[in-house]
Formats: sequence, structure tokens, C-alpha cells
Amino acid sequence: MINDNSERYGSITRFFHWVMAVLVLQQFFKFADRINEGEHWLGDTFGPWHVSIGAVILILAVVRLLWALKQKPQRPINPGFDGVIAKIAHRLMYFSMLIMPFLGALYIHGKGYPVKVFGYELIGQPADEVPWALALGEWHSPFAFLLIFLVIAHIAGALYHHFIQKDTVLKRMIG
Ligand code: HEM
Ligand code: HEM
Repeated sequence: MINDNSERYGSITRFFHWVMAVLVLQQFFKFADRINEGEHWLGDTFGPWHVSIGAVILILAVVRLLWALKQKPQRPINPGFDGVIAKIAHRLMYFSMLIMPFLGALYIHGKGYPVKVFGYELIGQPADEVPWALALGEWHSPFAFLLIFLVIAHIAGALYHHFIQKDTVLKRMIG
């Protein structure tokens, strides 16, 4: 079934969720640049794709948000306090997925480099550093920490529902 209903998420929502989960999780390998002054195989392997995949995440996040808004009236509802927390976490994750690509681009632009997506120069190289862009772009890292915290709490919540509460919260996102 393509659309969501009150019992479970439909195929399009599940497709967006799991494809984007993989894309977002691999973006976190960028944290590996902090190890050994950037000389780490994780950073070396995934680092070169970080900007291009970030751009794909942005496009998917916009389409997914529009889809989620359309599906909202018939989606599963999470009752109680847990549900309110889950809702806030989902919204913050959407916000992070939408804002982080812009902040990343501002960071690169601010540092005086061109922003290239799959080899195509999206924003040309500025003559010098761009302080206002750098000041905004420096928020990319705090958002990375916020998002990884949310994702860990989110996964823990899903596993708690599945293994401790033994309800259908995880199953309805799987199929
Ligand atoms: C939602 C998509 C994205 C996620 C989840 C993400 C995540 C991350 C993470 C986890 C880090 C490491 C932060 C740290 O060590 O403090 C990072 C760094 C970085 N990201 Fe992203 N990123 C995304 C999109 C982008 C995009 C689209 C660009 C560029 C256009 C970009 C440019 C950068 C740069 C330049 C750094 C290094 C910053 C520094 O050295 O402080 N990111 N990102
Ligand atoms: C192994 C990793 C993951 C698991 C097990 C998981 C599990 C789930 C489950 C069970 C739901 C349904 C919750 C409900 O009905 O209230 C859900 C929804 C959601 N998840 Fe995840 N998730 C994972 C990774 C991620 C990642 C990396 C992101 C994005 C950063 C994410 C973003 C969302 C969002 C925004 C929703 C709300 C529904 C939607 O709009 O798609 N999830 N997740």
C-alpha cells in the first residue's frame, strides 16, 4: 500500500525513511575526521561523498516533508507523553536534515572554497574567506551533534518499543 494508515506506514514513507536513514548514518562518518588529524579510513572513504550525499539528503528531505504533511491526517498516532517526545524529536530531525546542507555549504563558502556537488560547481570560489558565511556555517557541527543525539535516542526508543513494550511501533515502519 502506497499511503500510510492508522495501523502502519505505507511503502513511500518506508522508502524515504530507510533510504534516508542509511544516507544520514553514513554522513556521521565525517566525525572520523576528528581522529588522528583526519587520517582515518572512515573519513577517507566517506569524506569525499559528504557534500554530494548531503545535497541528495536535502532534496529527499524536502519531498519527504511534503509527503509527510499530506499523510499526516491518516498516520499512526503515538498517545501519551512518549508520543509528544517522539513528535518533537521527529520534527527536530526534519529540521536538521533541511538546515544542515545549507550550513555545510556556508561553511565551505565561508572558508573560501567552491561548493561542488557530484563534480558540478554549485557555488564558485570566493576571492577570500567570507566571515558572515563562516559564522553561520560553524553551526553545522553543533547540529551534527544534535542530530546524532536525536538519532541515538530515536533508535533506542524504537528498540524499547519493540523488545520491552512489545508493541507495533517498529513493525509499522518495517512492513
Ligand atoms: C543532512 C546532511 C548532513 C549531515 C547529517 C552532515 C553531518 C556532518 C558531520 C557529522 C560532520 C562532522 C562534524 C564534526 O566533526 O564536528 C560534518 C562536517 C562537515 N560537513 Fe556535513 N553533513 C551534512 C551535509 C553537508 C553538506 C551538504 C555539506 C556541504 C555542502 C557539508 C559540509 C561539511 C563540512 C565542510 C564539514 C567539516 C566541518 C568542520 O571541519 O568543522 N555537510 N557534517
Ligand atoms: C536503525 C535506525 C532507525 C530505526 C530503527 C528507526 C525506527 C523508526 C520507527 C520505528 C519509526 C516510527 C515511529 C512512530 O511511528 O512513531 C520511525 C520514524 C521516523 N524516523 Fe526513524 N529509525 C531509524 C533511523 C532514522 C534516522 C537516521 C532518521 C533521520 C535522521 C530517522 C527519522 C525518522 C523520522 C523523521 C520519523 C517520523 C516518520 C517519518 O516522517 O518518516 N530515523 N523511525
